[in-house]
Amino acid sequence: MAARVIDGKEVARAKRAEIKARVEALAARSVVPGLAVILVGEDPASVSYVTGKEKASAELGIASLGRRLPASASEAELLALVRAYDADPAVHGILVQLPLPPHIDERRIISAISPEKDVDGLTAANVGRMLLEEPCFVPCTPAGVLELIRSAGVETRGARAVVLGRSNLVGRPLVNLLSRKSYNATVTACHTGTLDLPAICREADILIACAGRPGLVRGDWIKAGACVIDVGVTRVEDPGAKAGFRLKGDVDFEAAAAVAGWITPVPGGVGPMTITMLLDNATAAAERASGILPGSGA
Ligand code: GUN
Repeated sequence: MAARVIDGKEVARAKRAEIKARVEALAARSVVPGLAVILVGEDPASVSYVTGKEKASAELGIASLGRRLPASASEAELLALVRAYDADPAVHGILVQLPLPPHIDERRIISAISPEKDVDGLTAANVGRMLLEEPCFVPCTPAGVLELIRSAGVETRGARAVVLGRSNLVGRPLVNLLSRKSYNATVTACHTGTLDLPAICREADILIACAGRPGLVRGDWIKAGACVIDVGVTRVEDPGAKAGFRLKGDVDFEAAAAVAGWITPVPGGVGPMTITMLLDNATAAAERASGILPGSGA
């Protein structure tokens, strides 16, 4: 294997130590950051993500004030819950775990969150502020990806970055963030409508795979020495595994690692950073609300 494996758990540990110190500084002012993660239904992957977020919050001293609703919960019920959290001064951050059941309008729910509590960075106000480079909450997974690239010492300035995936949660924000002057990458946005994906990926100095398609990116799609960030986490059946499944990324890890300069594993790459950046955003929301950080909102 040629590639250096970027250890997301290690990068997350260092970042969480820094967040913990900020939470302790808030505690000295009698402020406990409050994070409300709302889960609707029992999708096993979502349950596991939400449990991970609650566990990590507890470790840092962030209060989990969220709730779990049955899949049958109505849009009106969920909207009322989001509005109640939005009005509650003990709640500094709100995250509605996605996807929502099909009978609920996702945008309608997210729009009920005030920008200053939108720690997921998904409201129209935060997306607009991000585009304008105004202070905002950056979505957690893109923020985590950027931390991983930075921690590996990979140069973004002048690099060709290819983002494979165009979700609001991951692909679109990354395309925008990497093209900022502070990163100065030349970014190509790819998706399922792109012709000759392999050829475009082969040009990437930094390849970010966030298409949600297990094993899509083959070894011969990778430029020698590239930095490969695998955001995919799909559960695939594995009768040999204790749980009956294993997590598979969008990248054929073994083949890509033989060619790449850096690569993130699945699990243990982007996942721990997503949670960490959520805690970072929740802590920043509490800091802003209590006047430690400038600005009343995001
Ligand atoms: N589902 C998978 N990842 C995320 C995330 O970062 N935020 C929300 N709200 N839902 C998700």
